[in-house]
Amino acid sequence: MKLSTHVFQRTSDQGMPIISVDNPVASLELSLFGGHVLSFMPKRDNRQRLWLSPKAVMDGSKPIRGGIPLCWPWFGQASQADLPAHGLVRNQMWQVIRVDDDVDETRLQLQPKQCSGPGFVHSAELTLELLIGHQLSVSLITRNTGQQAFTFGGALHSYFRVSDIGKVKITGLQGPYQDKVQNTLMDTSPSPYCIAAETDRIHLTQSADISIVDAECATQLHNQGHDSLVVWNPWQEKSAHMADMPANGYQQMLCIEAAITQGLELAPGQSHTLKQVIA
Ligand code: BG6
Repeated sequence: MKLSTHVFQRTSDQGMPIISVDNPVASLELSLFGGHVLSFMPKRDNRQRLWLSPKAVMDGSKPIRGGIPLCWPWFGQASQADLPAHGLVRNQMWQVIRVDDDVDETRLQLQPKQCSGPGFVHSAELTLELLIGHQLSVSLITRNTGQQAFTFGGALHSYFRVSDIGKVKITGLQGPYQDKVQNTLMDTSPSPYCIAAETDRIHLTQSADISIVDAECATQLHNQGHDSLVVWNPWQEKSAHMADMPANGYQQMLCIEAAITQGLELAPGQSHTLKQVIA
């Protein structure tokens, strides 16, 4: 089904609606389950920026491993044990509410079917806005549509494709971080910043510009509206125990997430944009 000149909708083999964008400068695929970007490739270099697990479960029975999972209205474990990690929206269907084609950019807006549920009973509106051009801009916009303030969190949990994790350097991250593997607070980030073991770190920083420097190329990230940048790689042992990840999958991926981990209060009528631009 054609939604516009450059935007199509199809049904995957597993029965999930998939949106494909193919414009003169870039291509992108998104699953309406989770409002989940699966791939992004600018045509100037035809290099896939995102990593999608070959073992990802794509039938809507669990969140998709890889791409850009949307975590909202909380990041990480919920306050109650019976609630899902990373919030309520990566597990539900989204719908396209707007499509615009421009000469070298396509704009898509989507919303989840529901913005409240167990663990978050507030009046909120959540919109995902994607600008697909020479770069991909991903904005998660939270609006308080109720009469009372609420506190929320979340993340753009992007999985980036790397050629070899052993050769990757991250630039632009300095200062202290919470190490979730060692359960300690570290004073300074490594320099150079390489990944050589299981890594799960919350950098409490509003630093905007980060580069993932790979063997022969670099992926540039510009982040906005976050209180933290999260760096995650499960490494060998954990990958081997994850049903939706190949044992060696950790070698080709690195998550750098623009996140709100500290809770952000939003007054009635206010909105907030959490954004990551991928170039
Ligand atoms: C990261 C967390 O953001 O997501 C990790 O910091 C977590 O602790 C990872 O393991 C993956 O989470 P999930 O729920 O998608 O397996």
